[in-house]
Amino acid sequence: MKQIPTNWFEDFFHGITLDLWRQAIPEKQTQAEAEFLTKVLNCKAGAHLLDVPCGNGRLSFEVAKRGYQVTGIDISREFIEEAQASSDRVRTGPPATAGGSDLAVGTDSIAQINFILGDMRSIGAESIYDGAFCFGNSFGFMPYADMEKFLLGVARALKARGRFVVNTGMAAESVLPHFEEQSCHEVGDITTTIKERYNAEESCIDSEYIFERNGQKESRFAKHWIYTTAEIQRMLERAGFKIIELYGSLKCEPYKLGAEELFVVSERA
Ligand SMILES: C[S@@+](CC[C@H](N)C(=O)[O-])C[C@H]1O[C@@H](n2cnc3c(N)ncnc32)[C@H](O)[C@@H]1O
Repeated sequence: MKQIPTNWFEDFFHGITLDLWRQAIPEKQTQAEAEFLTKVLNCKAGAHLLDVPCGNGRLSFEVAKRGYQVTGIDISREFIEEAQASSDRVRTGPPATAGGSDLAVGTDSIAQINFILGDMRSIGAESIYDGAFCFGNSFGFMPYADMEKFLLGVARALKARGRFVVNTGMAAESVLPHFEEQSCHEVGDITTTIKERYNAEESCIDSEYIFERNGQKESRFAKHWIYTTAEIQRMLERAGFKIIELYGSLKCEPYKLGAEELFVVSERA
C-alpha cells in the first residue's frame, strides 16, 4: 500500500465517502445516540453543546430537537454547506411546493443551531459550551500531537464541569480482536472493499477503500491511529478531564474486549 500522509483527512471527506456515511447510519441509530447523549451529558434544557466533528449535522439536529443549543464544527466544506442548508430549511420551513422537509424537525421544536467550517485541532472558543461530544468514529484520525491539540481545545471551549463524550469503534480493544486484512460491505448503492494493513511500529491501520457505484470505481486512502482504552483515558486526563464512566453500548453496558463501540464520558475538571 502507498504511504498515507498524516493529514489524509483533509482530502478524504467529499463526494462518495460522504454519500456512504449518509446511507450508513439509520435514523433510528441517530435518535438512540441523541437520547444517550442528552442523558450522559447531564445538561439543562437550553444548554449550549459542541458537536465536533459534526459531519452534516445529523446528531446536531437530533440533539437540538431535544431542546439544546448546538454548534457543530467540521473540516468538510460539503458537509458544512449541507448542514447550513438544512438549518436554513428548519428555520424557514419546507418550501411550499415540496411534500415536506426531509428533516423530521418542526420549526418550533428546534433550539438554536449553528455550523462552522473549521479544524478540530484549532477550536477557537473559551468557556462557552456546557457540554461537547465527538461521535461517529472520529477519534483516532490523527496522531498523538494533533489529538492533544484537539482535546486541549475542547477542554478550553467547555465551561468548568462541562461534560465531554467520546464514541469510537477504533479503540485497540474493539478493533484488534476482529482485524481483517480485507473485507467487503454493501451500503445502499455503494459497494466498498476495504484493504487494511496493521502497521505495528506506529500502531496505525492504513486502509484503502475501493468504492464501486454504477460500474464506476474510486479509491481513497485513510489512516487510523489505534489508541488503547487506557491511553484514551490518559489523553483525556492530560487535557484536563476527569473520567466519569466507560460504556460498551448506547444501553450503558460495560465495555469489554471485542465490544464494537466504546463510549467515554468525561468532565472538565
Ligand atoms: C465519519 S464522519 C462523522 C461525522 C459526525 N460526527 C457523525 O457522527 O455523523 C467524520 C467527520 O470528521 C470530519 N473531520 C475529519 N478530520 C477533521 C478535522 N481535522 N477537523 C474537523 N473535522 C474533521 C470529516 O469531515 C467528517 O465529517
